[in-house]
Amino acid sequence: MKTTAQFKKMKKDREPIAMLTAYDAPSARLAERAGVDLILVGDSLGMVVLGYDSTIPVTVDDMILHTKAAKRGARDTFVVTDLPFFSYHGNFPETSGHVRRLLQEAGADAVKLEGGIEVADTVKKLVQAGVPVMGHLGLTPQSVGVLGGYKVQGKDSSEAEHLIMEAHALEEAGAFAVVLECVPKQLGAFVAERLDIPVIGIGAGAETDGQVLVYHDVIGYESEHVPKFVKQYANISPHIEAGLENYVSDVKSRAFPEAANTFTMKEEQLEGLYG
Ligand code: KIV
Ligand code: NA
Repeated sequence: MKTTAQFKKMKKDREPIAMLTAYDAPSARLAERAGVDLILVGDSLGMVVLGYDSTIPVTVDDMILHTKAAKRGARDTFVVTDLPFFSYHGNFPETSGHVRRLLQEAGADAVKLEGGIEVADTVKKLVQAGVPVMGHLGLTPQSVGVLGGYKVQGKDSSEAEHLIMEAHALEEAGAFAVVLECVPKQLGAFVAERLDIPVIGIGAGAETDGQVLVYHDVIGYESEHVPKFVKQYANISPHIEAGLENYVSDVKSRAFPEAANTFTMKEEQLEGLYG
């Protein structure tokens, strides 16, 4: 399993960091087998797995359940778990209670939270307590209501300047990496250059220190609204659909089960049965 020190070294060596989300044992197992450097149990699970319209309804209990499953599937991969909506804005004992459960109960190796200056103090306290923390700036989906939709962030110089300030605040607070979502590629490159910690982009151009995408988007598994920044590397939904349709039609026509799927008993036992 790679460590936070190794992620920093990868940045220094200009070796791109490949991060991918996963939400259960099979997805995490396949992500690990593909060689991802770290797995994110993202609160995007609310949309791609639980069927909500946003990440807002996701709870700490949801994150614990799915982190446990992902960790069982990928024991040798560093697993970051999202702190869900409004779980880190109360007092610190409340926040640290959630974080403790995610690390101790669920087995997460680190937590990720959204925001900059307003969460810097929380990040600092968590890091002081020994918790690796990843930041998340730019398009922060938990604030979709405030941002007014899923839009590119930091497009003008004052917005960009503010974002750079926030990135510095997270680094100073001790975050080991930052996700930067949906910003112009020039801003992605600038932030990555200015920070010593890895900047992992999603829709932030090719010059960040790594990339992250949502599992279901990458493999084309019933992801409904695919953003421009996604590249779909497979399209598995039609394969699943065809398999399931064939199953239903075989049941209806009694083509399934076949002899190979069937158990038998000995002839004399059968005679005994009929008396
Ligand atoms: O929840 C998530 O999947 C994320 C990534 C898109 C960075 O936060
Ligand atoms: Na998230």
